[in-house]
Amino acid sequence: MDIYQFPKNFLWGSATASYQVEGAVKEDGRGETIWDRYCKCPGRIKNGDTGEIACDHYHRYKEDVQLMKQLGLGSYRFSIAWSRILPEGTGKVSEEGIQFYVDLVDELLKAGIEPCVTLYHWDLPQAMQDIGGWANPKMADYFLEYSKIVFEKLGSRVRKWITLNEPYCVAFLGNFEGRQAPGIQDFSTALQVAYHLYLAHGKTVKYFRESQMAGEIGITLNLMPRHAYPKSEENEQARVWADGYLNRWFLDPLIFKRYPEDMIELYRKKQIKIPDFDKKSMEIIGQDLDFLGINYYNDQFVKRNETCWPLETEPVIPPELQVTDREWPITPDGLEEMLIRLKTEYGVKKIYITENGASFQDVVTEEHTVEDAARKEYLRKHLKAVYRAIQKGVPVKGYYVWSLLDNFEWGFGYTSRFGIIYVDFHTQERIVKASGKWFAKCIAMNGIRED
Ligand code: FCB
Repeated sequence: MDIYQFPKNFLWGSATASYQVEGAVKEDGRGETIWDRYCKCPGRIKNGDTGEIACDHYHRYKEDVQLMKQLGLGSYRFSIAWSRILPEGTGKVSEEGIQFYVDLVDELLKAGIEPCVTLYHWDLPQAMQDIGGWANPKMADYFLEYSKIVFEKLGSRVRKWITLNEPYCVAFLGNFEGRQAPGIQDFSTALQVAYHLYLAHGKTVKYFRESQMAGEIGITLNLMPRHAYPKSEENEQARVWADGYLNRWFLDPLIFKRYPEDMIELYRKKQIKIPDFDKKSMEIIGQDLDFLGINYYNDQFVKRNETCWPLETEPVIPPELQVTDREWPITPDGLEEMLIRLKTEYGVKKIYITENGASFQDVVTEEHTVEDAARKEYLRKHLKAVYRAIQKGVPVKGYYVWSLLDNFEWGFGYTSRFGIIYVDFHTQERIVKASGKWFAKCIAMNGIRED
C-alpha cells in the first residue's frame, strides 16, 4: 500500500462562496446583488433556479461548522457578501450584516478551524452595477472602502485573506461572454473590468500592508494549462493566445507588473479598446503577495478557428479523455504542470489550492449514503498531482476542496453538485458523501493512501 505523506502543517480545507450557500437574500438589510438580478432574467439559469435559499447556510452555519469539525478540516474558505456589509455598496453600513460573519468566524475559531476570507466572490451590490460596475474606475476605491470595514471588524481574528476570486470569470464570463452576472457582452468592457479589479486588489493589499495587519493576503486565480489539439503549428498559435487570454493576462500584471505584449497586439489588431495601463497603476497592481491562490478544475484544448472573435481559437474536447457531468475533462497532470510553471516561470513563493473538485450526478442510496466513487477518484488523482509538485519543490501549503456543500452552481443552478457533503435542497438535510469520509481520512493521516 502506497502512502503519500504531505508536509507537516499542510492545510486541509474546503471552500464555499456567499451567494452559492447563504440564502437569506432579503434578511438583515442585505442589499440586492448582480446575481439576484441576473437570476431573475428568464433563461439565464437552469430551471430558473436562484440563490434565494441555496443551502440556508446563513441560518445553519453552526450545524455546518460542526460538520466541518467532524471532517477534521483545518480551514474553511468562505466569501463575504459585500451587500450585507454595505447594502448600497458604499455609504451606510449594516451592522446586522456584519454580525453574521463575526458569528461565523467565532464559531469556526471555537471549533479550531481557521477562517480564510474571500472579499469578493462575484456578488457585486446591484447599486454598484447601476453606476457601471467594475467598468467604472471608481470601483477600486469603493472596494477599498468595503475592505477596510471588513478588516476592521474581522481583522483581529482572521489571518488569511483573499481579495478576489477568479477575476477572469468576473471580467470575461460576466462582461464579454455574458454567461455570468451582469451578463454584458463587450470585450473592451471586459478588459476595463479586469484592470479595475486589479486596481481594487492592489489598493487593498497596499492598505493591508500599510496598516500592518496580521496574517497573510493573496488573490485567487483560475488557471489552466492550454494545449493545442491536435498538435500543429496553427493550433499552437491558438494555444498561445488562449494561454494569454486566461493565464498570462492575470498572472503577468501581478508578478511582472505588465500585461502581455502579444495579447495587447492581438487585441489592437482587432480594434479592441485597451485601457491605458500607466506605470503608477501597474505598481499598485503588482503588490507583493503573501500567497497565490489557484483554482484548478481541468486543462483546456484548443484549435485555431479564424471565425472565433477575437482569439481565433475554438475549445475542443479530445474524445479519449474522461469528463465530469459538466463535460470538463479530467486532467490531473495539468495541475502538476501548472504548479511547476508557477514556480519556475513566475517564481511564486507560496501557493494554496483554493478550489479543486468535480461535479457528478449523485444518488442517495436506500441506506441514506452517497457513494460518489467518481468524485473520490477525481480528488485522489488531483491530490497526488499536488503531492508530486511538492516533491519537485513547489511550495504548495494547502488544499481546499470545492465544495463543502452542494450549492447554487451559478448558471447550472442546483443541477451540478460539487459537494463532499450532499444537500437535499427540499429539506436542507446534509449527508456526508463517501468522498467526504475519504477526505476526512486524508486529513487525519495528513496524506493519501492508495487503497
Ligand atoms: C469556480 C468558482 C466556484 C465554483 C466552481 C465550480 O469557477 O469559483 O464558485 O462555481 O467554479
